[in-house]
Amino acid sequence: MELTAKLGTLLNEPGMLSVLLSTEEAPLPAEIAGLIEASDFSGKAKQTRLIYPHGALAAKRLLLIGLGKAAQLSSESVRQAAATAVRQAQELRAGALTIGMNGTPALAPLLVGQAIAEGLELGTYRYYRYRTNLTEEQRFVVEQATLLVGADRDQVEAGLALGQTIARGVVAARDLVNTPGSALSPAILAEIATALAARLNLRATVFDQAQLREQGFGGILAVGQGSANEPRLIVLEYGEAKEGQPTICLVGKGITFDSGGLSLKPADSMVSMKSDMSGSAAVLGTMQVVAELNLPLHVVGIVPSAENMPSGTAYRPDDVITTLSGKSVEVLNTDAEGRIVLADGLYYAQRYQPDAIIELSTLTGAIVVALGTHVTGMMSTNQELADQVKHAGEICGERVWQMPLWEEYHEMIKSEIADIRNTGGVRAGGALTAGAFLATFVGDYPFVHLDIAGTAFVEKPRKPYETVGSTGVGVRLLTELLRSYTQ
Ligand code: BES
Ligand code: ZN
Ligand code: ZN
Repeated sequence: MELTAKLGTLLNEPGMLSVLLSTEEAPLPAEIAGLIEASDFSGKAKQTRLIYPHGALAAKRLLLIGLGKAAQLSSESVRQAAATAVRQAQELRAGALTIGMNGTPALAPLLVGQAIAEGLELGTYRYYRYRTNLTEEQRFVVEQATLLVGADRDQVEAGLALGQTIARGVVAARDLVNTPGSALSPAILAEIATALAARLNLRATVFDQAQLREQGFGGILAVGQGSANEPRLIVLEYGEAKEGQPTICLVGKGITFDSGGLSLKPADSMVSMKSDMSGSAAVLGTMQVVAELNLPLHVVGIVPSAENMPSGTAYRPDDVITTLSGKSVEVLNTDAEGRIVLADGLYYAQRYQPDAIIELSTLTGAIVVALGTHVTGMMSTNQELADQVKHAGEICGERVWQMPLWEEYHEMIKSEIADIRNTGGVRAGGALTAGAFLATFVGDYPFVHLDIAGTAFVEKPRKPYETVGSTGVGVRLLTELLRSYTQ
């Protein structure tokens, strides 16, 4: 979509569809107030009214969208309003959209532009790769949007460009996650990452099964050994380690399908397990954004990828695995596979001597029980880093909630016959024993674990900029976090 910011007002701007975003407090301009029954539009959050001015305004159609109370205005309400607007445009087959703000929002102009762009781009996202029966409305593309502003045009336009770049990263992540396991093996994921690196300023390294063996990635190999699709370790590097420039490692769980392995999942729980590589999708999507934004950072994306399948060659409950770190792991349940591949991925991250390791994974059903689907669970070994991630979440709208990572949870995963075991053996505290397991493999490097099992994939969209399936969660959060290092 072509996005521009322009000085002007909605009242004399012609167009197919004009949209006025209005808070509860801001009175409507007289020309518009005259077109609607006053009681029909209060500006309360999510309210929409479509008006046909019939020549009373330059625009053919006018859509009013409520933003709620001015004091509570966040970039999230603007993002949602923009998505609502673009969906309405699609429904009306209006190829161009003009958006105006009623009153001056108490939000930085850059944030307004960013939120509008994200809402517009994500609001039109659909996964149609396998659809052959699309209606004309579904095929319709909104090609252009203009944001009318009273001031700060350059800042708003910079925000539009930033938001669009971020949204493209989110879209890339959603596409990866929505792709079924049959079409996205670890090898294919590695090819996509390599192609991304070739297109942008990134360096890709891929370890195939033979190389993983030579180098002792026992965790990735064990989880992958039951599948006909061989595992991979994918590393994407952006920038370089140098004085005064932080090194950040992003590690993402890349299980392209999680059947549970020999500890097979019940049929109903297996549906949607193509999304078990959502962490890796967030990492790859963010690497794309980081490269496109040319951020002055050293960022390393690390994706341990495998397919977790039951077969005669599959790893078993009771097996003991030697991970890349040299630590041995007793397998109690082959369905707790994410932490096993991540053990290798996290240990590998240490070689970059990073200032921070941020890891994302659809790790546990327990986090969904604890927090539901509206917030990502966070565990950390470093409170300063955790606070930084929490703050980034509040700014970008992808919120996180911290959970404890205490010694007691490490106690729960002690093993008699190996150094550690891959579950606590009980359901209680399942998200926390998983976090403790991961923290065993990061050394003393500041570490944040983000359990996105509840936030990565939705059966029902929660917001107008979401669709059924992948949310692309993590890309906005990681980008905001990385940008915070540069400000
Ligand atoms: N990929 C699942 C976690 C998951 C569950 C993600 C629901 C998204 C939605 C993970 O590999 C898993 O199966 N975890 C087990 C761990 C248990 C065996 C200790 C779980 O949460 O049940
Ligand atoms: Zn599993
Ligand atoms: Zn899994």
